[in-house]
Amino acid sequence: MNKNIFVLPGDGIGPEIVLQAVKVIKAIDSAFDHKFELSNGLIGASSIRDNGEPITDKVIKKGKNADAVLLGAIGEPEYDNDPSIKVRPEQGLLKLRKSLSLYSNIRPVSMYDILKDISPLKNKNLKNVDLVVYRELTGGIYFGEKTLSEDGRSASDLCSYSVEEITRIAKMAFEAATNRRNKLTLVDKANVLETSRLWRKVVQEMAQKFPSVEVDYLYVDNAAMQMVINPAQFDVILTENMFGDIISDLSSVLTGSLGMLPSASIGKSAAMFEPCHGSYPQAAGKDIANPMATILSVAMMYDHFEMFKEAQAIRNAVNWALKENVVTEDITTENPTRCSVVGDLIAHYIEEKGEVSLNKRYMTEALNTVI
Ligand code: IPM
Ligand code: MG
Repeated sequence: MNKNIFVLPGDGIGPEIVLQAVKVIKAIDSAFDHKFELSNGLIGASSIRDNGEPITDKVIKKGKNADAVLLGAIGEPEYDNDPSIKVRPEQGLLKLRKSLSLYSNIRPVSMYDILKDISPLKNKNLKNVDLVVYRELTGGIYFGEKTLSEDGRSASDLCSYSVEEITRIAKMAFEAATNRRNKLTLVDKANVLETSRLWRKVVQEMAQKFPSVEVDYLYVDNAAMQMVINPAQFDVILTENMFGDIISDLSSVLTGSLGMLPSASIGKSAAMFEPCHGSYPQAAGKDIANPMATILSVAMMYDHFEMFKEAQAIRNAVNWALKENVVTEDITTENPTRCSVVGDLIAHYIEEKGEVSLNKRYMTEALNTVI
C-alpha cells in the first residue's frame, strides 16, 4: 500500500524521536511490502527561526493533503521563560490542529507489567489499568478570544463550546466505549462552568442512544484524585480541551513514564499522530530521550489506516524491547539504551519478524558506540 506521511519533527527532542519512528515506518515497509512516501516540514521554534512564524501556510496545506501527519514535539525554554513574546512555537501546533480540524485527540493508557515498579503508584492500585482519554482538541479556552488590557494589568481567555463541537467527539467516545468495556466518564466542572453544563446535557442525551454504555460524571478535581487512588475504574474518559491536557499527563505517569504515551488526533479528513510528552529541551541532542511514545503513535497511525497487522507488529516489537530491557534512562538507570539504539532494535525486530537474537542486539549497540 502507498501512503503519504508528512513528518514534522519540531523542537527539542522532536527530531531524534521522530527519526526512530521513521526507522519503524521503513521497517514496516520492508516487512509488509508497502511504500510509504515521507516528506518533512518545519513547525514550532525551528519554523520561527527559518520563516519568522511557527507554521507556514505551505506546511498547513501539505498537512491537509497528506494521508497522515507525524509530529515530534514543540517548544523551547527561551519562549517559556518570557511571557511577553508574541510569536510562540505552540501557536504552530494549535493552528495546525485547528486548520486540519483535528477535533478528537485520543490518548490510550496501557499498563506494561515490566514498568509497574517505576510507576509512582503502588502496585495494588495499578491492577487492570486500561483507559483512553478522548480530549476535545479544537475548541474551549485554548481557542477562545484572548485579551490583555493596554496597561497589562488584566487579561482574559474565553472558553466556549457549541453543541456541534461536543456532539462530534462525544459520538466517537461512545463508539469507542462500545468496543471496550462499555463505560464512559465525562470529566467536567459542571458545578461552576456553563460550558460544562452544556457538555453534560449533550452527553446525557447521547447516552440514550448507547444503552449498553454505563455513563458517569466526575468533576475534574475529583477525577484527578480518582486517577491516583483508583485508575482502574476508568475505561473511556471524555473531556474538553484543557481538562484533557491535564488529565492525560496525569494518566500517563501511571505507566511509569510520560515517554510511553502515544496519541492520535482525528478530524473530518486529516489525522495526526504525536507523542503526548513535550520537547524535553534538557535532553535535546543527547540521544537519551524515550522514542517509544512516538513509535506507539505510529502504531496508532497504522490502526487508523486499518492496517492492524502492521500496528500489532510495532506493539510486539515495543513489548519485546521492554522485556529485553532495551529502554532509555527514564525507565532504567542500569545500562540505559540510547534513543537511536532503541529505534534501531525495534526496527530490526520488525524487519526480522521477531527473529532477533541477543547477540545481534549487542552487535548493534557496539556498532553504534563505534559510530
Ligand atoms: C499536548 C501539549 C500541547 C497542548 C502544548 C504543546 C500546546 O501539552 O499536546 O498535550 O497543550 O495541547
Ligand atoms: Mg499536554
